[in-house]
Amino acid sequence: MLSSPIDEIKERLDIAEVLQEYIQLRKSGANFKALCPFHNEKTPSFMVSPEKQIWHCFGCSEGGDIFGFVMKIEGVEFPEALRILAKKAGVELRREDPTLQNKKTRLLDICKLTAAYYHKVLLESPKAEFVREYLKSRQIDSDTTEQFKLGYSPDSWDLLFEFLKKKGYSEEEIFLAGLTVKKEKGTGYYDRFRNRLMFPINDIHGNAVGFGGRTLKKDEQGAKYINSPETLVYNKSHILYGLDQAKSSIRKEDAVIVVEGYTDCISAHQAGIRNVVASSGTALTEGHLKLIKRYTSNIIVAFDRDVAGAEAAKRGIEVALTQEMNIRVLELLSGKDPDEAIKENKDDFLKAVKEAKPYLQYYFDDTFKNFNLSRVEDKKRAAAVLLPIIAKIANGIEQSHWLKELAKKIDVSEEILRERIKKTVKSRRTPVKEVAEENLIKPIDRFIKVGEELLSLLLCYPEQISFAVKELVPECFGEERQRFLYKNLVIYYTKKEQFNISDFQKKLQSKNNNESAAYLDVIHLLGEESFSDLTEISVRQYLKERINLLKRNLISLQLKEIEQRIKALEQQKTSQNQEEFDTLSQKFNQLTNQLRQLG
Ligand code: CTP
Ligand code: MN
Repeated sequence: MLSSPIDEIKERLDIAEVLQEYIQLRKSGANFKALCPFHNEKTPSFMVSPEKQIWHCFGCSEGGDIFGFVMKIEGVEFPEALRILAKKAGVELRREDPTLQNKKTRLLDICKLTAAYYHKVLLESPKAEFVREYLKSRQIDSDTTEQFKLGYSPDSWDLLFEFLKKKGYSEEEIFLAGLTVKKEKGTGYYDRFRNRLMFPINDIHGNAVGFGGRTLKKDEQGAKYINSPETLVYNKSHILYGLDQAKSSIRKEDAVIVVEGYTDCISAHQAGIRNVVASSGTALTEGHLKLIKRYTSNIIVAFDRDVAGAEAAKRGIEVALTQEMNIRVLELLSGKDPDEAIKENKDDFLKAVKEAKPYLQYYFDDTFKNFNLSRVEDKKRAAAVLLPIIAKIANGIEQSHWLKELAKKIDVSEEILRERIKKTVKSRRTPVKEVAEENLIKPIDRFIKVGEELLSLLLCYPEQISFAVKELVPECFGEERQRFLYKNLVIYYTKKEQFNISDFQKKLQSKNNNESAAYLDVIHLLGEESFSDLTEISVRQYLKERINLLKRNLISLQLKEIEQRIKALEQQKTSQNQEEFDTLSQKFNQLTNQLRQLG
């Protein structure tokens, strides 16, 4: 049988490498470890096994393969996850296969075709000669044009529309991809982008999801830019222009420079400054910051103070403060945007990047410039401006630092300022917290965890199975799959008197128990991580501790049950149930004694 694209992708991709794009993995023996992206935790319990090609979090018990991970972290369904991974693996997907398609993948196909179309028109059409000249005049070279797939949308109402229809897409689909506009009068559609320099906007994987179109008219009448609307595949608060090109540099430099314009971003890349993305003139959202946080916590924001964009940028920065990110502000000579600044003198620009001030410093300086601190009124006003910002800083140490600064500056006791902050925080619910709580997955039951640890100890030290059998009945485990694994482990070991994990794995699979076989992988992974290289004495010690815990747990559960039954009996006392009452009490005492003996 020919292998499916799914198998082929799995074979070609290294799970650790793929996950590394989303989270920071640290090597841990043969495996990798990370802070779980799916629940809040301070110590890492998220494990990745390149050999088994699985990931598993021992904190929230989420786990699976590479596809499951992409679906979960991107919030997408299987067909899109398949696409993302096929692209990474360089595996061609057959477009006709309906199981590999959904609404979104159709829209992605449309955007991809459109980007290629505009690009080709720009490079080849005689009518685009003036656009090629325009690019030259702005010193955008052909490599950059290629890298960012710049294009030209012809001066026509329907060329793109007709092109896409011929490729087999419906009018409705083309509209939903954001490429056409509904006619106001009558029915029908026309091309959204006409006679514009086109910037495809890519998602993090390099798929075009939307477009920005710059006017080429000299008189600059009408909107300078027209952008795609939000669509099923283009969520503006989750896409940053240039991030697909910049991501590896951002990680390498451990910093991102956020500029406003498409051209600023492109210019920077062309000059070899590659850790640059554009916010496209809007405020950074929490979604943007989450994306950035995959690669770095250090943001350098370049915004022009003279433009209205400054206010928008400020809003974004304040969200970043609540996310414990380090934000610095890059100040350029007024009136210059990064594109111009870089072209004028790249080294000066890089120097300005290096000297970018921490945001709070920038904000302090900016605020105090406008106040006369010998006047009480101004002190009050400065505090009113700065306190709300300080209140947003999530990092306690940093917050404390700036409170002290402010206290010194306006000569007011720190305590008073601290009180004021408490009030502002109370009256305002931070949006970040809300999301965090919503994402919070219930940590797994302590006894499930103990059961997992016990099983993994036995997998790593199978010679201990005979000891466990004497001490522990399957009922002590809190989950059916654990009981099942334990029973089978015992049966297997008793029969063979030796243990080989892959042989055991095959046994489970041959019984058509794939779920159990997968769980075995997870348990084994935990064992490799937590219990390899133990001495015989400590293995026995660890085992005893966990056996003891599980036994006590079982007894406690039984006690609870008896207690409830006794309570029920007490409510309807008859001579008949006196007997039952006595047996129960006796049992209760027995179990209590056992529990005491266990420690
Ligand atoms: N923008 C927009 N709509 C507008 C104006 C601006 O969406 N009407 C966004 C674009 O993403 C643009 C960014 O805001 O890239 C910054 O605007 P601006 O500085 O005017 O554009 P530049 O990219 O610098 O374009 P150019 O250098 O060609 O003037
Ligand atoms: Mn510009």
